[in-house]
Amino acid sequence: MFESIQTRGVDNLLSLMQTFRADPRPHKVDLVVGVYKDEHGHVPIMRSVKEAEQRLVDGENTKNYVGISGDADFCALVPDVLLGAAAKPIVERRMQSMQTPGGSGALKVACDFLNTMEKGKRIWVSTPTWANHIPVAKDAGLTVDHYPYFRPSDKGLDFAGMMDHLQANARSGDVVLLHACCHNPTGVDLSLEQWQTVTELVMNRGLLPLVDCAYQGLAEGMEADASGLRHMADAVPEMLIANSFSKNFGIYRERTGAISVIAQSPAQLEQAKVGIETVIRSNYSMPPSHGARVVTTILSDPALCEDWQAELSKIRARITEMRHALQGKLHQRQVNLDTGFLTTQRGMFSYTGFSPEVVKRLKEDSAIYIAGDGRINIAGLCHANLEGVADGMAAAIAAARSADS
Ligand code: LMR
Repeated sequence: MFESIQTRGVDNLLSLMQTFRADPRPHKVDLVVGVYKDEHGHVPIMRSVKEAEQRLVDGENTKNYVGISGDADFCALVPDVLLGAAAKPIVERRMQSMQTPGGSGALKVACDFLNTMEKGKRIWVSTPTWANHIPVAKDAGLTVDHYPYFRPSDKGLDFAGMMDHLQANARSGDVVLLHACCHNPTGVDLSLEQWQTVTELVMNRGLLPLVDCAYQGLAEGMEADASGLRHMADAVPEMLIANSFSKNFGIYRERTGAISVIAQSPAQLEQAKVGIETVIRSNYSMPPSHGARVVTTILSDPALCEDWQAELSKIRARITEMRHALQGKLHQRQVNLDTGFLTTQRGMFSYTGFSPEVVKRLKEDSAIYIAGDGRINIAGLCHANLEGVADGMAAAIAAARSADS
C-alpha cells in the first residue's frame, strides 16, 4: 500500500547532503549544510566537549529516563544562556525552559503547542527563511504567511518592507517567527535598534514572538548575539524561544536544544508548561540525555566554560577570515559580482544571490555544492579549497552570463 504515498520529500538541504556523500569526485567541496568545519575540512569535536564527555562516561551511574522536560540542571541553565541571569522574565519567574531533541525538536514542539492554542493559528515567517521552518509549521497545522525580509538588490535587509507588511497584515494573536541572530539562510540580521522597533510592533499589535536561536555565539559572541532577543524578552508579556546547542557546542548529532516559554505571570507559566509537556509526551515522550549533560557540565564548570568560550571565539575568527579570504580571491579573479555581502552578512551563511544556473554549474562542473537558493556555508571554506571554490565560482558566473547573452 505504500505506492499510494504522496510526499514532498525531504528539503533541498538534506537531499543535497546525500548527493554530496555519493559524489565520487575527490576534490568535491561541501558548502551546503550549516556545520562548522576546521581548517582541514573536518567537523571537529571541541576540547571542552571531549572533556565533559569523559567526565560523563566516568561519572554516569544510571540510564533512567530524564523526564518529559528533560534534564533539570540543563533546563535551569538555558534561560541564563539565552537572556542573562538578570533578565526580567527570569527574575519575575515567568520563564521556563524544557529540553528538546535539537532546535528542530523545539520548533516542532512550539508549533504543535501553538496549534493546540488555536487550530490553524497564523505564523509569519521571513522571506526567505530556513528550509525546515515552513514544513514544520504547516505539518503542525499552522497557517503560514510571509513577510518581506531580504532585499536582493543590495543583499541586505528590507526593514521598511518587513515593518509595513506586518503593520498592514498581522492581526492580534498571530505569531511572528524571528531569527535571534545569523539569519538562516541570508546572514542578514536586525540591528538592536530594529529589534526595538519590532518589539514595539509586537506589543502594539498583540503578536506572539517565536524566536529561533540556533546560532548564538557564531556572529559576535554569546552575549552580543542575544542583545535583540534580550531586549524583546524584557519588554513583551509572552514569548517562545526555540534554541539549539548544535552549532555553538558543535554537537549536531547529539540533538540538544530547548523550548523556552515566557508567560505573563507564574500561574500562566504553569499552564503553558503543562501544555508544552503534553505536546512533548505525545511526540517523543522524553528527550535524550547526553548532549544536555555535556552542555550542563561545561557551563557549570568555570574552567571548562572558559575553554569552550575560547574555542568558540576561534571558530568566529576563522569564519570571518574565510569571508575576507573568499572576497579577496574573487576580486583577484575580477569576478563580475559585488562581493560586499560576504563581509557584511554574519554567522555561518552568506546568501550569494547566485541563479539556479550558477548553482547547477558549480555542482556539475566543479563539484562545489551549495544550497539550491544560493546559500553558502562559509564555515565549509578552508585555505585548501579556497582557490578551487573561487575558480569554480568565477567559471560558473562567466558561463551563466555567456549562456544568457
Ligand atoms: C542548515 O540550515 O544547514 C542547518 O540548520 C542544518 C539543517 O538541519 O538544515
